Amino acid sequence: MVKPDGVERRLAGEIIRRFETRGLRLVALKMLHPSRELAEAHYAVHRERPFYGELVDFMISGPVVAMVWEAGDAIKLCRNMIGALKPFEAVAGTIRGDFTTEIQTNLVHGSDSLETAQSEIALWFKPEELLA
Ligand code: PPS
Repeated sequence: MVKPDGVERRLAGEIIRRFETRGLRLVALKMLHPSRELAEAHYAVHRERPFYGELVDFMISGPVVAMVWEAGDAIKLCRNMIGALKPFEAVAGTIRGDFTTEIQTNLVHGSDSLETAQSEIALWFKPEELLA
């Protein structure tokens, strides 16, 4: 997902381009302004963490681009392309390493496991929005 800062900074196209030219298959894509309820459900696993409220507020601060990309080892592939969470660990060539120095405004969210991906896809997309 391209987070609100990515859309605001006009980086959505650049981010999509990276996944597309790498060779992943685009299965679904939509732009939406998430409701608080949706953002809270998305980050429910982090409910107890100190930054949860701030993270939800940030996520509903503007439109996002939700996407489903398919590839072998897609989770690891995407996370490597997105780059590390800690800004000083995100290396050049990754999305975060090339475009941000911040932990919150970090441009992109990527599912961290197959199980998470399945539940996040179900949360953000209707089955008919996933194209074969
Ligand atoms: S991980 O590897 O994505 O599970 O990393 P994690 O530490 O669990 O972070 C989960 C999401 O919380 C965001 N995050 C923060 N936001 C604001 N402030 C601080 N300090 C902070 N630390 C972590 C982080 O960007 C993750 O968001 P997503 O959308 O999942 O990338």
